[in-house]
Amino acid sequence: MSESARRRHNVPVPWPWRLTATLLPMIGVVLTILLFHMYIVPHVAISWQYPLLTLMLVIGTGLFSYVVFGILSQQQTAILSANERLEKQRDGLNALREASYAMTTVGDWTDIVQNVVDVACRLTGARYAALAVLDDSDNYTIRQFFTSGLTPEQIDRIGQYPTGRGLLGEVIRHRRPIRLQRLQDHPASIGFPPNHPKMESFLGLPLLYQAQVMGHLYLTEKEEGFTADDQAIVELFARQAAAVIASARFYQEREVFATLKERERIGRDLHDGVLQTLYGITLSLDNLVDSHENLDDETATELNRVSETLGLLMTEIRFFIQSLESTSIDFRIALTDMLRRLGPMDDITMTFRDERYLELHPKRIHDLLLSIQEAVSNARVHGHAEHIKIEWTSTDEFYQVVILDDGEGFVYHPDTTHTHFGIRNMTKRIERWDGQVHITSQKQTGTTVAFKIPWL
Ligand SMILES: Nc1ncnc2c1ncn2[C@@H]1O[C@H](COP(=O)(O)OP(=O)(O)OP(=O)(O)O)[C@@H](O)[C@H]1O
Ligand SMILES: [Mg+2]
Repeated sequence: MSESARRRHNVPVPWPWRLTATLLPMIGVVLTILLFHMYIVPHVAISWQYPLLTLMLVIGTGLFSYVVFGILSQQQTAILSANERLEKQRDGLNALREASYAMTTVGDWTDIVQNVVDVACRLTGARYAALAVLDDSDNYTIRQFFTSGLTPEQIDRIGQYPTGRGLLGEVIRHRRPIRLQRLQDHPASIGFPPNHPKMESFLGLPLLYQAQVMGHLYLTEKEEGFTADDQAIVELFARQAAAVIASARFYQEREVFATLKERERIGRDLHDGVLQTLYGITLSLDNLVDSHENLDDETATELNRVSETLGLLMTEIRFFIQSLESTSIDFRIALTDMLRRLGPMDDITMTFRDERYLELHPKRIHDLLLSIQEAVSNARVHGHAEHIKIEWTSTDEFYQVVILDDGEGFVYHPDTTHTHFGIRNMTKRIERWDGQVHITSQKQTGTTVAFKIPWL
């Protein structure tokens, strides 16, 4: 016998009931005999009196027992159903406790919110659950919508997430729970889009933490609908869920803030320390070359080469600082920045035929910039070009950057670049993105360097 069943059998009958049940039959018997003597005895023959009295007593006790057992079984039923309700509540509270454990798993904010929806769904026995997160600035618009119970295909078929009109908006506006047997019957209901699974029973409520709305929880399709007890449990759950979401958000904000601060600090250190030192070294190198006219050619070339390498290194560091400070980089702005730092850009024309360069990932931009820098430097140093054109074009499959110069040109052999690293390095950078470098050059007409890279 289970513990709850034993408890069920030990429920004592209250004493007034016992007293009544004991006294009533006695009084009944006495009354029957009294009435019999007063009204029956004077009218009935003596030989009938004894059987008649027996009959009356039998019928009386029978009726009495019938009524008493009826009352008792009614009581029993009431007690049993009260007990069942208590058990359900206890199960609900147990589930709630488990749900609280399940909710506090670590992860980022999105994982935690998704987990809250899943747990809410399991806790209530609802078929579907959803959690709406509102826009920070406009507290009536749904910004994010997390669901549980819907397959990705179902979500695809429904198409758009709700925006917060209709019944969901009703919960948002009134900041209180709404529980319905059939959500379609509510005046605020505006119906579902096509391809939406059937949803009837509904329980929606705000997740409040310190009077602040952390989101809204919606549960639908519980067999036999949601009861007041379900609502009570879900309200308790909602309070914990709101606290969990609030703390997750708090930590995320702090983490993002700390990371940004740290990035800023690294960026500053690099800029003020490393970059300035490198700049100083380049300046003294250039001074050295300029002021010592008696330097032999080899040394001068070598020093120039070092200075050029330092320039590239500085570009790389600057780019790194920029990528620390912002998550997205505008290729066009970064390119202009880089060219400007190389010196006057009067000889350069830039053409961007479309704006898809805005979709470039910072790492791709990084390799593109350094490759362009090399090509421009070659055009100036080796080709003595008067004019350099840089062109951006793209198709759905590729994007292309072409650097054209009107310089002296050269005979290009892909294998003869052992001692020269510029072209080799740019080729490696472009091939990293599955791209190709095409160089066409003719003596006197100039050089064209093209980087052609697939988007994916
Ligand atoms: N635009 C150009 N116009 C004329 N000649 C060029 C041009 N680009 C490259 N060259 C020739 O090709 C050679 C190889 O270039 P590459 O950039 O690989 O090496 P580098 O510039 O000589 O040295 P590094 O780039 O390693 O400092 C150059 O030395 C130069 O002769
Ligand atoms: Mg070069």
